[in-house]
Amino acid sequence: MLNLSLLTDPAFCPHSLNKYASIMACGNGYMGIRATHEEEYTQQTRGMYLAGLYHRAGRNETCELVNLPDITGIDVELDGENFTLLSGEILSWQRELAFANGELHRSLIWRSPEGRRYRLESRRFVSLDALPLVAMQLSITPLDASSQIVLKTGIDATQTNSGRQHLDEISVRVFDQHYLQGVYETQDRTAEVAISACCRLSKDSDSCFTAKNRRITAHHALTASPGETVTLEKLVWVTHRRDRALSTETFARNALADLQAYASQGYATLLARSASAWEKVWRDSRVEVASTQEWDQRALDYAVWHLTAMTPAHDERSSIAAKGLTGEGYKGHVFWDTEIFLLPFHLFTRPQVARSLLRYRWLNLPGAREKARRNGWPGALFPWESAASGQEETPEFAAINIRTGIRQKVASALAEHHIVADIAWAVVAYWQATHDDDFMRSEGLTLLMETASFWMGRATEANGRLEIHDVIGPDEYTEHVNNNAYTNYLAWHNVASARRFMTMFGREDARFTENANRFLTRLWLPEANAEGVLPQDDTFMAKPAIDLSRYKAKAGKQTILLDYSRAEVNEMQILKQADVVMLNYLLPERFTPQQCVANLAFYEPRTIHDSSLSKAIHGIVFARCGDTERGYAFWRDGVAIDLGDDPHSSDEGIHAAATGAIWSGVIQGFAGLQVVEGELHLAPKLPAHWRRLTFPLRWRNARLRVTLEDDLLTIDTTAPVTLTLWGKTLNASGRQVWSYKDFMTSVTGTATMEGRHDA
Ligand code: BGC
Repeated sequence: MLNLSLLTDPAFCPHSLNKYASIMACGNGYMGIRATHEEEYTQQTRGMYLAGLYHRAGRNETCELVNLPDITGIDVELDGENFTLLSGEILSWQRELAFANGELHRSLIWRSPEGRRYRLESRRFVSLDALPLVAMQLSITPLDASSQIVLKTGIDATQTNSGRQHLDEISVRVFDQHYLQGVYETQDRTAEVAISACCRLSKDSDSCFTAKNRRITAHHALTASPGETVTLEKLVWVTHRRDRALSTETFARNALADLQAYASQGYATLLARSASAWEKVWRDSRVEVASTQEWDQRALDYAVWHLTAMTPAHDERSSIAAKGLTGEGYKGHVFWDTEIFLLPFHLFTRPQVARSLLRYRWLNLPGAREKARRNGWPGALFPWESAASGQEETPEFAAINIRTGIRQKVASALAEHHIVADIAWAVVAYWQATHDDDFMRSEGLTLLMETASFWMGRATEANGRLEIHDVIGPDEYTEHVNNNAYTNYLAWHNVASARRFMTMFGREDARFTENANRFLTRLWLPEANAEGVLPQDDTFMAKPAIDLSRYKAKAGKQTILLDYSRAEVNEMQILKQADVVMLNYLLPERFTPQQCVANLAFYEPRTIHDSSLSKAIHGIVFARCGDTERGYAFWRDGVAIDLGDDPHSSDEGIHAAATGAIWSGVIQGFAGLQVVEGELHLAPKLPAHWRRLTFPLRWRNARLRVTLEDDLLTIDTTAPVTLTLWGKTLNASGRQVWSYKDFMTSVTGTATMEGRHDA
């Protein structure tokens, strides 16, 4: 097994049950399962989700990722006592998620209130080899005396999304003494789910089954001698379908047959197969650092783990939810997070996955066209939040004011239109990194043209130029403004890219080109002031600033909204998250380093970082501006969003975009990766804590490995590449080593810098 870090849950604590359930969740992009304990705790939220399986539970509800019937719960009775860590005593405790093979493991010794000791050990993984497969084991060893053990487990369809039930039970069955199956249907009758489970004990037991109140349960009772270990093995196959080509009976029968084929192999073999699939993931994408801070490597492994576990690489009809497949936050909806925060990791490690994520948008163009049309605009207006259908899924209202009973409207669906240009940005980034002309011809150009058409219709004549009015930029604390710099620049980039690629691929259209030319010459692009600061929008600079230190100290908790209404916040210089800094990050070639520094200096003190999308982006821009240590401090803060001490930071699921930003912070920040005018640039500079950084990178037809150690930069490449290192463009092939110091001298013109071909 690879020598990778482990994520540990240091102690049993009722307060942090849900945080660890999220961050230690297992998944394979097809399904995700929260890392809940087998035994029940009232505070603990169980969760199992299938990518793309959404449903709306009622007229006033929002379409959400369905929390499926639970398979992880096991009631354990030891000598008549219910096993729970809330009573008795925990004599030893170990719980960890092994990134190398994807196994979640807990081992503990418990002394019951009656004074008897037992060892309990549980293991679980979601297979990366056979996507619908989940495997679990629970082993119990009485340590003091012969013990009566009762185990109850099965499929529990009383599970809901915070009380909202999405599934009707169609059938529950038991087959061959070991197999259970529940078949369910979404209440709108559009999808069916079959959950099949096989439960086997290592020792003969007195067993029976019950099916009652949406639960189908296997009951096992047995006696174990002191020191004797009994193991329950539970293998589960979770499938769903939307098409009705087969009858429900055939669908269910096939699911059972699939499980039976796997069940005969047993837990250890199935784990080994899944582990070798993970091994490939690690080989293709692991970032390794030698840091004096042990947590740095763990954070990077954590990021790659979840970036893999959350991404439906198998299905281009699904995309990545804001909490991945680890919880119900944001209802499992897809935001701009995917294209801007998550896609870069895939683009540079598994480009075919980036393609699939863009195909999701392409397949959902009808919904985006429809939204634009409904609002009187041409082209495609992608929904701010989307699910399976491509329709706008943003809830109309957010929190309720419980004193007035008035609900706060969510404005993003109405005005947070930058997502349109974000998708176009990602299309361009994909082509630049892959030169995948087929994609550009068949899907990319359509996406670029439709999004560009939207902006050309969206802009208005004002002040003798084209302006974009009434938008929300990335900073959601500033709503309904004119000429948000981020939006205008990204829209310009969107239209310019559409024009360029249409010409490049021989698809020029005279009317489109004329409109594009007009738009590009007349769109107002806010200009930096004498200090280099770009105004966030037309009115931002005239608003008052306030001291934000107490809100910044509680970043992520939105405490400003306890003291001020949204309308008041809107009238002050208060940013929820990176906005102009975000623009500096995405379009680095448009701004000078001095402007980036000026924008950081002006906007950061005005930014609370109440969104998890903020800190890491500041970290990247600081690192690119040469302030590696501030870059590192922001990167560490970004890591702490999920992995810090706050016991509730991730109760509703991990912060998917923030995990993408952990990877990006290192590759685009400290390694200085930028794509400038379509070309690959690297300018590594490591934080003081780091001695070595090495990572794989895909760039067009080459697989690269980049290693920076002390003063030496080594690049291994499977095919010749042209790249710019610390500002100097060169060709690399095979293995080449450069010395940073020599390089710096050469850039200043006093030495030749060809790089050394190593033997
Ligand atoms: C942020 C958005 C983000 C969303 C989902 C919000 O709090 O402001 O930028 O897309 O969370 O992560």
